[in-house]
Amino acid sequence: MTIPHHVAIVMDGNGRWARQRYLPRVAGHRQGVEALRRCVRACADRGIKVLTVFAFSSENWNRPQEEVSGLMDLLITALSGEVKPMHESGVRICFVGDRSRVSEKVRAGFAKAEQLTLTNQKITLNVCFNYGGRWDIAQAAQRVAARGQVITEDALNQEVATAHVSDPDLLIRTGGEFRISNFLLWQCAYSELYFSEKLWPDFDEAALDTALLAFAQRERRFGKTSEQVSNVAVAA
Ligand code: FPP
Repeated sequence: MTIPHHVAIVMDGNGRWARQRYLPRVAGHRQGVEALRRCVRACADRGIKVLTVFAFSSENWNRPQEEVSGLMDLLITALSGEVKPMHESGVRICFVGDRSRVSEKVRAGFAKAEQLTLTNQKITLNVCFNYGGRWDIAQAAQRVAARGQVITEDALNQEVATAHVSDPDLLIRTGGEFRISNFLLWQCAYSELYFSEKLWPDFDEAALDTALLAFAQRERRFGKTSEQVSNVAVAA
């Protein structure tokens, strides 16, 4: 079975998971961290080399103050509790997004986790935090322009916030919504899209395997015809 090199996930549905249980929304996010930990392990076990997750979008600041501070607290707890075991499992952790708006404490936690796990090779986990796809394209263009270079696709590819990895092969969104929500807009040009009805805290190994099976059955044509793609497959 063809396993994607890079999987990206919009982890949606934490709030609904909590509401169904008459719990505060942040309890759903806490369960979301558990689901993320399981997912990283499951992806590594299956030979996926890069996992990129949307943990906090540029627009999430507009949520109720209580939820935003709950997410920040959860992030700080995760930085102190999750990084070491991930490091021991060979996970390289990278934080992707605009760090100018996060606290000094969080910024220091990001830098420490990245430094500790820098040379790990089992799987790369990109945690998108205060990330937006439009922000990413704009910041990449600004960097290219600041060097006085022409803004080309190659130049932008080298400056987007995920330039250290290849583009996602598979983009999963949980929670039953059919949107990209300003996630990796530039990088998902040719990603296969997969939408799961499962709420993120319920997205388990079986659900991941269902998504991977669907991916394996897709024909990726990258703009070519089906005949061209299957001729290449025969020749290879
Ligand atoms: C979307 O669900 C989820 C988020 C906005 C946060 C995702 C965060 C995690 C899974 C935890 C990992 C992150 C940190 C901070 C360590 P939603 O709240 O929009 O759910 P709903 O659509 O059911 O309301």
